[in-house]
Amino acid sequence: MSPASPTEVCADESEKKTSAHNSPGNASVKETDTPETIAEAYQKLNLGRDISSVRTVSTSVDARNCVDGNDKEGEQFKKNSTEKAVVVPTAEEMTKNCNSVVAENSEFEVVSNINGGGSGKTTSVLKPSPSVGMSLENLVEVSSVASGKNSGSENGSATAMMDEAWDLLAQSYVDFKGQHVGTLAAVDNSSEALNYNQVFVRDFVPCGLACLMKNNADLEIVKNFLLKTLHLQGWEKRIDNFTLGEGVMPASFKISYDTQRQKEVLQADFGGTAIGRVAPVDSGFWWIILLRSYTKCTHDYSLSELPEVQRGMKLILNLCLSDGFDTFPTLLCADGCSMIDRRMGIYGYPIEIQALFFFALRCARQMLKPEHDGKELIERIDKRITALRFHIQNYYWLDFTQLNNIYRYKTEEYSHTAVNKFNVIPESIPDWVLEFMPLRGGYFIGNVSPARMDFRWFLIGNCIAILSSLATPAQATAIMDLIEERWTDLIGEMPLKIVYPALEGHQWRIVTGCDPKNTRWSYHNGGSWPVLLWLLTAASIKTGRPQIAKRAIELAEQRLSKDGWPEYYDGITGRYIGKQARKNQTWSIAGYLVAKLMIENPSNLLMISLEEDKKITKPKLTRSASWTF
Ligand code: GLC
Repeated sequence: MSPASPTEVCADESEKKTSAHNSPGNASVKETDTPETIAEAYQKLNLGRDISSVRTVSTSVDARNCVDGNDKEGEQFKKNSTEKAVVVPTAEEMTKNCNSVVAENSEFEVVSNINGGGSGKTTSVLKPSPSVGMSLENLVEVSSVASGKNSGSENGSATAMMDEAWDLLAQSYVDFKGQHVGTLAAVDNSSEALNYNQVFVRDFVPCGLACLMKNNADLEIVKNFLLKTLHLQGWEKRIDNFTLGEGVMPASFKISYDTQRQKEVLQADFGGTAIGRVAPVDSGFWWIILLRSYTKCTHDYSLSELPEVQRGMKLILNLCLSDGFDTFPTLLCADGCSMIDRRMGIYGYPIEIQALFFFALRCARQMLKPEHDGKELIERIDKRITALRFHIQNYYWLDFTQLNNIYRYKTEEYSHTAVNKFNVIPESIPDWVLEFMPLRGGYFIGNVSPARMDFRWFLIGNCIAILSSLATPAQATAIMDLIEERWTDLIGEMPLKIVYPALEGHQWRIVTGCDPKNTRWSYHNGGSWPVLLWLLTAASIKTGRPQIAKRAIELAEQRLSKDGWPEYYDGITGRYIGKQARKNQTWSIAGYLVAKLMIENPSNLLMISLEEDKKITKPKLTRSASWTF
């Protein structure tokens, strides 16, 4: 967070403005019959069920119905969104059938291909997933709690917690000219506000989702937020003498009262007042993702089809799709350009941004109209999606087999036949990862660039990879396996670790620049963030393993409200309320609500999740457009 500060721009509204390629990285986990799509997952969950018991949600009930899981791009998005009903398994059925989905997947062979077509296969039979055989009876309780049916003291306290969370969320609403336009980052009168009295774009996403998912959805605040931030994008953004790209979205904004002009004015921060002066690369992506959720939920295309909204999307994408010196399809970023908004060694090609980039490309692909220059942009998006997916699925993927491959890498290889493409020196593998990597499970590592692999685990990038179907179904299953296998490390006493492990000692000094807020196991450096609960829950449901989310939610319920909804927790297991954590942190509250709303009604997941796109697979290799032989 940056200190309380005047913002860079201040104006009122009237002012100007695998495809699973058979390549090493993703081949090491054999595909099991993991549900490939949400539709398939539900089909599995509904197996053997009398159709008369199917619970349907009809569009006439309220405006926020989801549609089936057959989520194709473009026109199909629109067509699907007009469908009337979704089959929702009851909590009991979900519980019963999820056990069988997990059981089917639990004992499988790990078959791996040595990187670059090397020397053969390793096969090992692994022990069953810890979640197999775990009683999911409690899931029923969670469901009834979430739907407000109070059946017992524990449920009663969870219901009270939900009620409290809704009240606190409402207290965080920010008004501009008589309309709700966002939520404050925190409502904590006991500590200095700094910039926690602003509306952060990334923080609003779980708040907006909670508003969309709740009964009697609060659509207006989401729509107003999307339009207001779009309006801010239109401003000229200057830091010192340098003008930022047109498409940059603000990190945050606030409303103040101009006594001279006697009216409310908006003040926005595009990174010019943030710590490190870094523009938020994630803001634009989150904005596109939320726009798609709004559209999916309401079936109101009039918003996404507005020429201004179409233009806003194009401006964001143009920032990322322009030609340059890049040899990778990933996006080059400065440190501190996302949720981790201070120096933490995430410069380069951080997984969080790459996964959000992929997600936003796919969402925009559904909403962009081909008129004018739209068609050409859509073609560029398709190519980038294909290249990005290939790159991440292959070069970021790490599991036991792949780690062993890297451990045995040769170095200094030239030409196209190189196996160790980025010349990663095996001696740079940190000791911790050799211990941490379980036989069952895997994850996308934090960063890949020449001679550099950041082996740290980052939760957001991995969960977003699952939600956007950047991960293959086998990779998604392996990520959830890893979470189960390393529960103490990644979930601990309070969900969830933002990154694992923490930087300590000399590493902390050189990588963070001795950041006193990011000391080991605190804040961004291995702290535990309750807001991340919604992402874990979404990923758990998508992979057919809601019991993982349920366990994490139960942990959070033991303390979150009692502790006053802190921003983050400290310590190896997340036992202590963070040293500088704000209380009543709005996205901690909203993250909990969204997690509960999805567990109660798994079809809510469809508002945020994308299915695998089987249409866009291999790129067609064509000559460069400028080739005029
Ligand atoms: C901190 C977090 C950032 C968040 C902001 C407001 O700066 O690092 O991700 O958006 O607080 O909650």
